[in-house]
Amino acid sequence: MSLSPAFLDELRARTSLSTLIGRTVKVQKAGREYKACCPFHNEKTPSFTINDEKGFYHCFGCGAHGDAIRWMTDQRGLPFMEAVKELAQAAGMDVPAPDPRAAKRAEQAKGLHDVMAAAQAFFEEQLGGIEGAEARAYLQKRGISAAMAKAFGFGFSPDGRGRLKAALKDFGEPLLIEAGLLIDPDGERDSYDRFRGRLMLPIRDIRGRVIAFGGRILGAGEPKYLNSPDTPLFDKGRTLYNIDRASPASRQAGRIIVVEGYMDVIALAQAGFGEAAAPLGTALTEHQIERLWKMADVPILCFDGDAAGQKAAIRAATRALPLLRPGMSLAFATLPGGQDPDDLIRAQGPQAMESVLGAAEPLVERLWKFEQAAAPLDTPEQRAALKQRLSGITDAIGHPDVRAHYVHAFRERYDALFFARQAFQPRHQRGGGARSGWQRDRKGNWKPPLPPAGSEARAIGASGMEQRLLRAILASLLRHPEQIALHRETLSGLRIADGALAELMKAMIAASFGKETVETGGLLTILGQGEVYNMAKGMLRADTFTFTPHRSKADSDRVQRDLDEAIRVMAQGPELEAALAEATRRARDDLNEDSFAEQQRVRELKLDHDRRLAELAQSEDSI
Ligand code: UTP
Ligand code: MN
Repeated sequence: MSLSPAFLDELRARTSLSTLIGRTVKVQKAGREYKACCPFHNEKTPSFTINDEKGFYHCFGCGAHGDAIRWMTDQRGLPFMEAVKELAQAAGMDVPAPDPRAAKRAEQAKGLHDVMAAAQAFFEEQLGGIEGAEARAYLQKRGISAAMAKAFGFGFSPDGRGRLKAALKDFGEPLLIEAGLLIDPDGERDSYDRFRGRLMLPIRDIRGRVIAFGGRILGAGEPKYLNSPDTPLFDKGRTLYNIDRASPASRQAGRIIVVEGYMDVIALAQAGFGEAAAPLGTALTEHQIERLWKMADVPILCFDGDAAGQKAAIRAATRALPLLRPGMSLAFATLPGGQDPDDLIRAQGPQAMESVLGAAEPLVERLWKFEQAAAPLDTPEQRAALKQRLSGITDAIGHPDVRAHYVHAFRERYDALFFARQAFQPRHQRGGGARSGWQRDRKGNWKPPLPPAGSEARAIGASGMEQRLLRAILASLLRHPEQIALHRETLSGLRIADGALAELMKAMIAASFGKETVETGGLLTILGQGEVYNMAKGMLRADTFTFTPHRSKADSDRVQRDLDEAIRVMAQGPELEAALAEATRRARDDLNEDSFAEQQRVRELKLDHDRRLAELAQSEDSI
């Protein structure tokens, strides 16, 4: 049934959103709007805002966003039409009669949906029956709990050519064939059951209706999985396994995980990761990528570490390039050698899975590594060929801003690889002058520049994580004093909360202007004998956490790169926090699609930053 935009507008206008939402959560008036603790994620202070005038709700915390109908579908879990009917009834409106052509299509689809529902019931019943014993034992052997088996709707197709055909004969043979449940060999032979003697997994659409099946062989044999063919209900390339459950879970979790197989999705769900989906044995399609982006801005693709898995990852990466938009990307988590998520969780538990996910690489990094490893880079020609391959990638990116940043990111990495020294200067260091605003006073001592006026950013060191990272940076700089001058500009810009650490940083930067500081010993001499010296000595103890345990000369580029990132991340924290506060203020003052999108974008950047900071601060060894 298709509803006119005018009808839907009228429906929205007649519905008081705050009243509707107020039935489920406690709402408080705040100026022209209402506030509540967000029902889509866990929070203690309300960042969920309802605007009755505009008929929209927004959550500044998790990005949940929608109108009255969306509320009914997302929060109450109703199918679209049910949501409309319920709202229309409350608003005293009649739902318009459907147009005849749409009605006919709906009627056909209804027949197919009914057949699929009946088949699902049949398979489930068989799993519970006598013939299902072997399948039940198989589920048990694989450690699938009864609750999971029920949630995912496992069933069993008995071994025989006409079992389902007989059980569902009332639907008529043509419909069963159209639904893909019977195979119809052309010629005179009879149609027969497609799925025989298999463990059945229903594939459901976003609304939870069964649209296809995957049937796994019990034990060894080929093919391992037999799947429904494409039907009017089922289009492999437009469906994701478990989308009906993963979609709401992804809202709660703030992420969506993509794995390769049915069993991986189920193992993840059983381990507490409900936000996982899988393509159906084929490479991810554009359509599936777009579908994933509705659930999270950066879906995490978690594929096997083996050659096939990595090939699938790079295919997905390539396919996403023309579709990339600001904020929307993919991340890549790689499983350790030959394991799939199911294996990993069984062997090492959910925590191991969480760390694999936490270490997911951004798309840009994955593409870079892939191309870098794709061919030898020993000769000038081979190196130039790498550049050409990278251009091929950037050329495929559709969005101009995203493309420009990829060009820049690849160039930076490329230059760093082949022209190491001069190339890896952080941006703020360029053009800043060697002395970066530091000046000698009358006695000839170096003094830091004044902080920029009006800078609202807070000082560094507010969280334990930041403290830890800051100490690691200082300790690394003490071990590699030649790095201080290279990062002087950024280091000078840091406002450090802890007085003693701030003193040490100041002293180290001042010392970096002298020649002696290329060696740790020389640096210590300059630091004198006071508190600063003692702290520096303490940090040089062997067990201090640094990024840069290796001292060999060969590693100096690496040291510079690692420090460069750590310092950059460190410096960004307060900036991003200020930017987020500002964007949130703007969105609150003038809430519209743009201001909300901008606030969400900055929030995403801040979340990425926090994750990276945590990773850096927790890495035990070098990064
Ligand atoms: P896998 O072989 O990794 O399957 O194939 P799996 O889900 O981990 O299953 P188990 O653990 O061996 O039981 C990944 C996906 O590829 C498709 C299925 O969608 C499967 O989940 N596939 C695989 C097929 O469609 N047919 C096959 O014969 C094999
Ligand atoms: Mn598996």
